[in-house]
Amino acid sequence: MIEDLDFIREDIASRLAEGANSRHSAFHTPVVATADADARVMVLRGFDADSWTLLFHTDARSPKVAVIGEGGPVGVLSYDRKAKLQMRCRGTGRIERDTPLADAAWEESTTFARRCYLGEGPGTVSDQPTSGLPDWAEGIQPTPEQVAPARDHFAILLVQLESVDWLHLANAGHRRAVWDVAAGEGRWIAP
Ligand SMILES: Cc1cc2nc3c(=O)[nH]c(=O)nc-3n(C[C@H](O)[C@H](O)[C@H](O)COP(=O)(O)O)c2cc1C
Repeated sequence: MIEDLDFIREDIASRLAEGANSRHSAFHTPVVATADADARVMVLRGFDADSWTLLFHTDARSPKVAVIGEGGPVGVLSYDRKAKLQMRCRGTGRIERDTPLADAAWEESTTFARRCYLGEGPGTVSDQPTSGLPDWAEGIQPTPEQVAPARDHFAILLVQLESVDWLHLANAGHRRAVWDVAAGEGRWIAP
């Protein structure tokens, strides 16, 4: 039975770190919600345990980028079916395009990942089924030179977490707690 709020804090931090580092983690592909009542799956790329900031990669032309801007509210939702654990992260998002952090994220990306940012922006209407990529880039492992122009479309989303709602399901009794990041304290709430 989980009875310790400090355990909850550690559990949240370790699951977010694992989510960023392992594609096998349920927290690797959370649903990211924005203030326009839209939500989408994104890959969690990083978790800074000192500042409690999440890092995602995205296309600077995608609609969510305009919605989030330099300080929009963002929700990040995950459910680990095996662990029977839901985590609802809330925070403030900001988009960075030409910062050292965005540069570093680009440098760490494979050319295959960079290729995604070569084509039409997400949501661009097409007369026919399309990957959005230029024909020459279909089905190839491009060179760094070939994908260099895609850097203009690459952005990172940083979400500074404010609170995390942690819900564990158990036959013996569900447990739910909210960790307030700024206050550095948690409280129990009814599930
Ligand atoms: C498994 C999976 C992982 C995805 N990862 C990302 C991602 O890391 N970044 C991203 O911008 N979109 C990602 N997408 C696509 C988004 O869900 C979404 O379709 C896209 O970002 C469209 O932009 P919008 O949400 O601004 O309309 C992913 C989709 C799936 C199914």
